[in-house]
Amino acid sequence: MTIIEAKNISYKYPDGTKALNNVDFVVNKGNIVALLGPNGAGKSTLFLNFNGILEPTEGKVFVDGKEILYNKKSLLEVRQKVGIVFQNPDDQLFAPTVEEDVAFGPLNLGLSQEETKNRVVDALKRVGMEGFEKKPPHHLSGGQKKRIAIAGILAMKPEIMILDEPTSGLDPKGASKILKLLKELNNEGMTIIISTHDVDAVPIYADFIFVIKNGKIIKKGSSHEVFDDISVIRDANLRLPRIAHLIEILEKKDSFKSSDAYPLTIGEARRYFAEE
Ligand SMILES: Nc1ncnc2c1ncn2[C@@H]1O[C@H](COP(=O)(O)OP(=O)(O)OP(=O)(O)O)[C@@H](O)[C@H]1O
Ligand SMILES: [Mg+2]
Repeated sequence: MTIIEAKNISYKYPDGTKALNNVDFVVNKGNIVALLGPNGAGKSTLFLNFNGILEPTEGKVFVDGKEILYNKKSLLEVRQKVGIVFQNPDDQLFAPTVEEDVAFGPLNLGLSQEETKNRVVDALKRVGMEGFEKKPPHHLSGGQKKRIAIAGILAMKPEIMILDEPTSGLDPKGASKILKLLKELNNEGMTIIISTHDVDAVPIYADFIFVIKNGKIIKKGSSHEVFDDISVIRDANLRLPRIAHLIEILEKKDSFKSSDAYPLTIGEARRYFAEE
């Protein structure tokens, strides 16, 4: 079942920059979808079209089968379903303390003080930021801010969570914790859409991948469909996952023979070697 659909959307910024060009983007309910592409490709712009922060210059966006109409009622409905974690947490965090910031969304949804409190405690715990409740967000480190921004959206329990480079700036353990959290939320039924440059993580977590460049979708498909297309990988300033790169080198330089597609994850590599 489709949960988000952008039909042939284009977006032009007021200064004339055409950031999106006839983009079709479909997300199935319950999937983890990754959006890859070089800097300036249009990833953040596309995401802002998914909950009506930006209105496409051409084309339409549907959430749960309903067209976004850009009036108060429609936008309110959309924003209850679609939560976006911005690329830059400074665009998102604004309250005097961490707990007030994370509580803002749930209170705005009309939840009780008690339910809000529970959600704040739970969200901070899940991003590993318990103990920071009273701190002003602007006194936090970059990675800590990122986690609070994620907690703030998480506390609203949206049906669809969109995260614009959720692991950038996080230390390796923090990044892996966030990715595991996303997988957990996904297992609980949440649809997840992320943009990322982390090509090692994408084949582990993503059910489906889109690649964007110059505002156009240049490839979509499974991890193998995307990463087996070397010209797209090169064209989009991406690289192969390290594990696939290792196998490529073993084949080319150490006459290791295999006719299969390169494994993209450690799990796939283990099976690959076990079968040799
Ligand atoms: N507010 C704005 N006004 C004018 N042009 C903009 C604005 N925001 C972004 N752009 C332009 O739109 C294009 C797409 O930018 P966008 O931020 O969507 O890229 P991105 O794929 O998210 O890049 P990154 O990987 O660096 O985050 C770029 O050419 C950018 O310069
Ligand atoms: Mg961006």
